[in-house]
Amino acid sequence: MRTQHFLTLLDFSPETLTALIERAIELKQLKLAGQLSTPLQGKVLGMIFEKASTRTRLSFEIGMVQLGGHAIFLSPQDTQIGRGEPIDDTARVLSRMVDAIMIRTFEHEKAEVLAEYSRVPVINGLTDLYHPCQLLADMQTYIEHRGSIVGKTVAWIGDGNNMCNSYINAAKQFDFNLNIACPEGYEPPERVMQTACSRVQIIRDPLTAAKNADLVVTDVWASMGKEREQQARLAAFKGYQINRNIMAAADPKALFMHCLPAHRGEEVSTEVIDGPQSVVWDEAENRLHAQKALLEFLLLSEETYH
Ligand code: CP
Ligand code: NVA
Repeated sequence: MRTQHFLTLLDFSPETLTALIERAIELKQLKLAGQLSTPLQGKVLGMIFEKASTRTRLSFEIGMVQLGGHAIFLSPQDTQIGRGEPIDDTARVLSRMVDAIMIRTFEHEKAEVLAEYSRVPVINGLTDLYHPCQLLADMQTYIEHRGSIVGKTVAWIGDGNNMCNSYINAAKQFDFNLNIACPEGYEPPERVMQTACSRVQIIRDPLTAAKNADLVVTDVWASMGKEREQQARLAAFKGYQINRNIMAAADPKALFMHCLPAHRGEEVSTEVIDGPQSVVWDEAENRLHAQKALLEFLLLSEETYH
């Protein structure tokens, strides 16, 4: 049987994604009720981080502990990865010992090679191209606050980056409209746009994109690896800040999300991120519950999961 990986949201069917979100909501309630089950006893997740992380590392490590398993943090500085051992060799060795691998890296192709040579499931914990785990948490958060997202309108205002690309995948899998407002030259890559469904459109003007939106989302203007472009990006993204004017154009019940870390005063004003429409802390917490559902799904057999 082919090993199931989670490199993008398109790796799973819409039905599986919906089941994962339902399970994430359930796992959250069980945790709140003090009921932890430990089906992953003896299972180990290897976590390769080639970029910094707070939420992703915490949520995967804590998630494995709560499920009865264990997680190992692997950084390039302390492993042979940083000394040039090929990623396919790393995949072969690691996957003979651990039960699943999570990778956060630059080139998406590296995660794809890792998956190709791995005997165990590989999870994308963020690449330059996609951040699918964050979308599980975002979808869970929307559904918990507002119910089904089917047919709703999401406004992505900012960089056409890894988060935006995963929103493009999510629009297809979760069946919502996605208005993308980004400056010229900062659009999502063509290869991602080619996979977009008809519900996705690029609208330059942030106010137009936000009109009647049910969810307004942004992210940093300079992602990890783009720090040297910070000044040029500050100029290019002027006018793309999510502030009270943008939120006023959206539906009065609209939510605000940001995967974090955020730069207050740049991509979002302090009053919006710290205001009543912001659900960023629930969103961050839900990384834990959504990824526990993902780990269960990937590491337990079909019969045990359902
Ligand atoms: N949102 C997110 O992935 O955060 P970290 O970079 O802290 O993992
Ligand atoms: N787009 C951001 C997301 C961080 C979680 C980055 O890649 O740095």
